[in-house]
Formats: sequence, structure tokens, C-alpha cells
Amino acid sequence: MIHLIMIMAQVDEVKVRLAQAEDREAVLAFCQNTWENHSDYIHLIWDQWFAAPQGRIFVAVVNDIPVGIARVVQMTDSEAWWEGLRVAPAYRGRGIASILESQIEQFVLEANLKISRTCNASDNTIRNKMMARRGGRKVGSYIYHQAISIAHGNGDQVTQLVQLNFQDFNSIWELVNDFEFLSENPCLYVSRGAKWQELTPHLLKNCLEQGWVWGCQQNDELINLAIQSHSETSQKTFYLGYVNGKPETMGILLLELRQLAFEKGYSAVEGFFPVRDHLLKSLAKAGYQEGNLGDFWVYQWQNC
Ligand SMILES: CC(C)(COP(=O)(O)OP(=O)(O)OC[C@H]1O[C@@H](n2cnc3c(N)ncnc32)[C@H](O)[C@@H]1OP(=O)(O)O)[C@@H](O)C(=O)NCCC(=O)NCCS
Repeated sequence: MIHLIMIMAQVDEVKVRLAQAEDREAVLAFCQNTWENHSDYIHLIWDQWFAAPQGRIFVAVVNDIPVGIARVVQMTDSEAWWEGLRVAPAYRGRGIASILESQIEQFVLEANLKISRTCNASDNTIRNKMMARRGGRKVGSYIYHQAISIAHGNGDQVTQLVQLNFQDFNSIWELVNDFEFLSENPCLYVSRGAKWQELTPHLLKNCLEQGWVWGCQQNDELINLAIQSHSETSQKTFYLGYVNGKPETMGILLLELRQLAFEKGYSAVEGFFPVRDHLLKSLAKAGYQEGNLGDFWVYQWQNC
């Protein structure tokens, strides 16, 4: 049970409580001013976030007016995702984000979630410093890319990309391990919009069950892999949660994913891709365009 907390901030009394339906208007109003140079996305997902049972939105209020929010999502039995931290510009620098995050800390401890993750733009200096003080370890750097879906050329068909199933589990897991676990960072999958979680055998089985796993094979060997996910804001795009495999043939996979998306009626392919030279080159070659928000850093830390 999360208790209502009352903390005296520098000037006014700040209360933190769970979001209520009537907070919507005030929250969306201050979120219009989150960033100076670009718009926020909170208005696109507020209703879904509010309704989702796996997540909790905490709201900071001053004189009964919402002035800050932060959300936590239970991804698995052990993993939490922190997102949507926003403080109205006029109330920044008064400890409100810290108060909100202390409520999330309490939630993850009570829910016995061992691992927390979050992500922010690499140029968000205030947030990066907050993460450093929290002991967050940077476990990945990602750039959003998008490409419109394309029809096959004259009579061409998707030639190499096949839908994988449970029989392929071992070869998929071998490929994931081959390319990813060589690094000290966990192998991460981007789920539900942009929430990173560990790609475990259990998660892979779930994705196979949904028909979300695609691969390119060469001489009966799986050489490239793509796992679908989904966006919180659009059902019209083919959202990717994970790609991996041989650098030399990654471009073919990425191009054929655009054709697959077309076949399935999606307008585009999109996703966050790990910053690796060969992958960025393959993305560019296959016609994908970078988003204009630069790279995003994913942090991870142990809850104690
Ligand atoms: C980031 C943000 C949530 C901070 O909210 P806040 O209520 O002003 O933060 P707090 O006053 O609780 O301060 C949190 C920490 O940041 C530091 N900080 C806050 N504003 C700062 C500033 N302008 N410059 C340097 N440090 C700052 C504080 O000193 C504090 O440090 P501590 O952890 O050592 O105590 C707020 O600036 C905001 O809404 N920014 C836009 C959205 C955003 O960046 N969200 C997070 C990632 S997506």
C-alpha cells in the first residue's frame, strides 16, 4: 500500500498521490511546456497509461493542483520501468522530482522488483546527473529510426525473411547469445513503445507465440533476427523491439522488413536501434531515417 506523503518543499506543501481521472487536464496543460524545442508525447498516451493495470502514475500536487508526474511500470516479476517524469517549469528545482521518485522507490521495494531501468535523451544533463547520483549504469545507447513500408519490386517476393516458430527456438537463442552476451550488458528488448526489458527465454517464447519473430537463413543457418514489438501510440506501424545478426546481411533483413510491413498493411517500420556503426550503416542503406531527437541512453540499477 502506497501511503500519501506530505513533504514541505522549499515554498509550498507538496503532496504526492496516485493519478486521478480529473488530473488529466492540468497534467496535459503543463506537459505542453516540458521541452523548449520539441513537443512532449504525454498527451498521446495519458489515457492508456492511466488505464493500464501494470503501471502507476504518481502525481505531485501543490494546493491541489498537479505540478509533476512520474510513472512506474512492472515489466516482469523482477523488472521495473521508470518513465514520464515531468515537473511543470514553474515548479522545477524545488525537489519535486526527487519526492516523486522516492514514491517510485517505495513501490519497487514493496513489489520486490530487483531491477529498475529508465531512459532519457543523451543531452538531458539534469537527468544524466540524477542517474549518476542514483548509481544508474548506462547499459545501452539507442537511436530511433523509421522507414516507410514498400511494395516488392516487379514480381519480387520477400526472399530471405521467414517467420520463425518454436522449432527455431534453439537457433534463435544461440544467435542472441553469440552476438549479445559477449558484452557485459544485458540483452535488451524494447517493448510497448519504449520500455526496455531483458530478452529472456520466457520473453522470446511469448514473442514466438505471437508470431513476432522473423529471421533470415543461409544454408539452413539463422543469420539475422528481428523481433516485433508494439508502439503505445500507433497501431499503424510495424514496431521493432530487437534486431541482431551478421553485419554483412543486416541490410537485407532491414529492407525485407519494410516489404513485410507493406504486405501486412503497416505504413512504416519503426523502432529504437542500438548505436553500433555497422547497424547504423545498414539502416541508412536500407532507407531508414533517424529521428531528430538524437540518441537515448538506457540506465539500469539494482533496487535495494
Ligand atoms: C528533470 C526534471 C523532472 C527535474 O525536476 P525537478 O523537480 O526540478 O528536480 P528536483 O528539484 O527534484 O531535483 C532533482 C535533482 O536534479 C538537480 N537539478 C534540478 N534542476 C537542476 C538544474 N536546473 N540544473 C542542475 N541540476 C538540477 C537537483 O539538484 C537534484 O539533485 P540531487 O538528486 O542531487 O538532489 C525537470 O527538470 C523536468 O521536468 N524536465 C523536463 C522533463 C525531463 O527531463 N524528464 C526526465 C527524463 S525524460
